Amino acid sequence: MYKIFETVDEVSRYTAQRLLDKIKALPAAALGLATGSTMEPVYAQLLQYLQQSPVDLSKLTTFNLDEYIGLSAEHPQSYNYYMYQHLFNKLNIPAQNVHLPDGLTTDIETACQTYSNAIQALGGLDLQLLGIGSNGHIGFNEPLTCFNSRTHVVELSEQTRIDNGRFFTDQSEVPTHALTLGIQDILEAKEIILVATGNNKAEIMAQLFTSAIDETLPASALKQHPNFTIVLDREAAALL
Ligand code: GLP
Repeated sequence: MYKIFETVDEVSRYTAQRLLDKIKALPAAALGLATGSTMEPVYAQLLQYLQQSPVDLSKLTTFNLDEYIGLSAEHPQSYNYYMYQHLFNKLNIPAQNVHLPDGLTTDIETACQTYSNAIQALGGLDLQLLGIGSNGHIGFNEPLTCFNSRTHVVELSEQTRIDNGRFFTDQSEVPTHALTLGIQDILEAKEIILVATGNNKAEIMAQLFTSAIDETLPASALKQHPNFTIVLDREAAALL
């Protein structure tokens, strides 16, 4: 299903409400969370809802999608830092329930397996929130990633490094590799919400709506999921 709203504000209210509804219905939910500028207003809205009407988050578990390799949790462009700035510092989720891939891990293979296993041990994610890259990546699963992938290392495409360069002072500082949840891990979530806003997502959204399910467009894997919602603002929906 898809929903098109006029503004980013409406997109964020709808998405935050879906997250809130999930937490209320399932206090011990395992949530898959995403980063990126699309999610900033979503998290701000979720915090506002939770301030207005507090909910017990002591049983909630979260797993983040991805992290740059080589950036510490203290690095302002790490996804770890992003999550604490935008959400976790302002919420009472027990620290041991918050999971983020470790960009500084030295045993990458074990770290990847442990990450996917921890999600499976909880019976999979109850809800996965996703943004989308301009090349159709989800998490950091770049085009041609196998749909049956688990948490793994990716070499970032040039397009992704250019897109994400806006957050760094210099393009050369953008990491070349990242850890990401695999597409299979994402597909095993019981519910998936993909959010896209702004002009720069219009082309990839048009492709997503028309394309076959194919590894050249990672987000197309989601089209086989039985509980998948795409949430768009008018700009991202402009070419549909
Ligand atoms: C990054 C993240 C993705 C995110 C995408 C879009 O590459 N790895 O998880 O969906 O960017 O980000 P934005 O919302 O800033 O456009």
